[in-house]
Amino acid sequence: MKKISLRGGKPLYGNINISGMKNAALPIIFASILVGERCVVENLPMVSDVELSLKILETMGAKIERLEPNVVAIDTSGFVNGTSPVEMVSKLRGSTYLLGAELGRFGEARVGSSGGCDFGSRPIDQHIKGFAALGAKFESCDTYNFVKAGPGGLYGTSVYLDIASVGATINVMLAATLAKGKTTIDNAAREPHIVDLANFLNMCGARITGAGTSVIKITGVEELHSCRYTILPDMIEAGTYMAAVAAVGGRVGIRGVVPKHMETVTAKLLEMGVDVEIYDDIITVSRFVRPGPANVKTYFYPGFPTDMHPQFSALLAVANGTSTVTESVWEQRFQYVEELTKMGADITVEGNRATINGVERLKGAEVTATDLRAGAALIIAGLNAEGETRISGVDKIERGYYDIVGKLKAIGADIELVEDSEQ
Ligand code: EPU
Repeated sequence: MKKISLRGGKPLYGNINISGMKNAALPIIFASILVGERCVVENLPMVSDVELSLKILETMGAKIERLEPNVVAIDTSGFVNGTSPVEMVSKLRGSTYLLGAELGRFGEARVGSSGGCDFGSRPIDQHIKGFAALGAKFESCDTYNFVKAGPGGLYGTSVYLDIASVGATINVMLAATLAKGKTTIDNAAREPHIVDLANFLNMCGARITGAGTSVIKITGVEELHSCRYTILPDMIEAGTYMAAVAAVGGRVGIRGVVPKHMETVTAKLLEMGVDVEIYDDIITVSRFVRPGPANVKTYFYPGFPTDMHPQFSALLAVANGTSTVTESVWEQRFQYVEELTKMGADITVEGNRATINGVERLKGAEVTATDLRAGAALIIAGLNAEGETRISGVDKIERGYYDIVGKLKAIGADIELVEDSEQ
């Protein structure tokens, strides 16, 4: 079994280049179905969730060409509707985007149930509500979800989302892009990856305005055309390395970021006494004294990202004082606490709030990544800890971090991937 082995206590120095954003890449890959021509996507992070998405499309008849390490051409002219491979789709949350994309282009979709990180139940009622408003009927059985437009196709309409869900906003955008007439999404998610998807679709000829605000307007067009598009940098990857430097010490330039997307993370680090300097597309984090505590509450963008919650808990576990982390998006996102506790963290969870009494130094242990960001939190904890930490569940980390071991090694971390015969 593959594990990450690391020995903590070495401060980090140098620069890290940030990859493209996984959660923008996935909807853009599936949105290429709507185009029906060859699109070239640049700055794709070659993490396993992206590889799997490309494989799903390839299995369904799309032609995938790897032009450069992070540049891929996707030609969906030969895409065959309704043929999604159940086994692959069941491993990926982003595969729900097949529903909106197939429905938008072909008027119907038949997609295996999706998977992804396990935070308890991950309902899609808001996606279904959006499809229904556009005139489509939804049904599901054990393994498949089906959605089908009425005889006249999909019609633009008003959709009010009860929750500013990223996935539901994306699926309604995908379904509405080629629908007849105008669609308005109220209470839409405002995350940067929603803007990235709108920019990609607009470059292909869609008419979408308001992305990045809570009201998105989509005027349906008859068809899309090919384009060349560059994925935006991953704010969660950047935030993870910022938290790592804050937990371990040193001075690191985080390169190729959009500082605006990092505002909440930057503000929290400054509040904790960590030094953060902002340049055009570089953020430098320096930490030479133990950071102070902070209270963090996750919320939809532009609030503090839920996908930075576990990493911040790892950082606050070594801060000088008592902190709290309140989770408002995925209330069952606390599986990582048991693992951090094995490393000497002093954390108690009540309801959706963790109270964290910082300790000076964590200690190495055998731990397991229960999900993607939980895995990142364990790496941050391990970089601080005394002695060796061995992390299993590496496949979960590889879903969303491109070469995390190599990137950390290059800035001085004592970290490597090892093969462990123990199961
Ligand atoms: N929700 C509903 N009904 C729905 C949809 C969502 O009740 O129909 C609820 C969820 O249960 C949750 C909240 O709304 O409590 C937010 O869910 P959202 O739909 O926004 O999440 P998602 O689209 O399933 C994406 C990311 C997650 C990230 C969340 C929140 C992708 C592939 N996944 O999930 O990323 O945590 O948005 O920002 O984009 C990660 O990258 O580690 C990750 C888990």
